[in-house]
Amino acid sequence: MNKNDIIIRLEKQEDYRTVENLIRESFWNVYRPGCSEHYVMHVLRDDPAFVKELDFVMEKNGQIFGQNMFMKTVIEADDGRVVPVLTMGPIGITPELKRKGYGKRILDYSLEKATEMGFGAVLFEGNIDFYGKSGFDYASKFGIRYHDLPEDADSSFFLCKELIPGYLSEVTGVYQTPQGYYVDDADVDEFDKSFPAKEKLKLPGQLF
Ligand SMILES: CC(C)(COP(=O)(O)OP(=O)(O)OC[C@H]1O[C@@H](n2cnc3c(N)ncnc32)[C@H](O)[C@@H]1OP(=O)(O)O)[C@@H](O)C(=O)NCCC(=O)NCCS
Repeated sequence: MNKNDIIIRLEKQEDYRTVENLIRESFWNVYRPGCSEHYVMHVLRDDPAFVKELDFVMEKNGQIFGQNMFMKTVIEADDGRVVPVLTMGPIGITPELKRKGYGKRILDYSLEKATEMGFGAVLFEGNIDFYGKSGFDYASKFGIRYHDLPEDADSSFFLCKELIPGYLSEVTGVYQTPQGYYVDDADVDEFDKSFPAKEKLKLPGQLF
């Protein structure tokens, strides 16, 4: 694939099903048997916290093969302030094109757009091996804690990047995952029935 032929653009309504299928293919059996992220995306688009100006797809010759999206959320600061931040995901690349640099490309592009919109920081759960290359670090280094996580628990999954340098320098507090990410397994299963059948497999390395 010639990198110059690739377009990153906003998702349109007519892309919704294609993108949900892409997310399903991308996440299937990666973190658990099957996946829920395609349904999460389906639900989040109608959530008031969804940032439609940061809902991107990556395509070549009209074929969508990557996506990324953001939600607004907050840090409940220890001094009582409520600090607006972004969270991100799902982000996915179609399985046959993973590990070719496209994930980093749509990630960096969308972070640039989020910066242009004036957002101060992005926090979410992810693997530092991928996100570290785009400037993310452990959120604990910024003094931000993950909601409901015991103080002595491993929080290395919880990452942060300031989009405005110093945005979090005077902030310590607790990050909140937007409620929209929590979906019911039964709803996921029902939604999944409308897609082609796929086998759920229990594989090593899955988190759940
Ligand atoms: C995670 C994902 C978006 C990354 O996109 P990608 O196009 O595959 O990744 P890139 O090629 O841009 O990766 C750039 C670098 O990040 C690191 N990286 C990427 N994916 C990684 C992984 N799963 N584990 C460890 N390091 C990874 C590598 O260093 C990689 O460079 P290399 O291939 O030369 O070693 C993609 O693999 C995907 O869709 N995965 C399934 C869904 C998912 O896990 N989404 C993220 C949830 S937080």
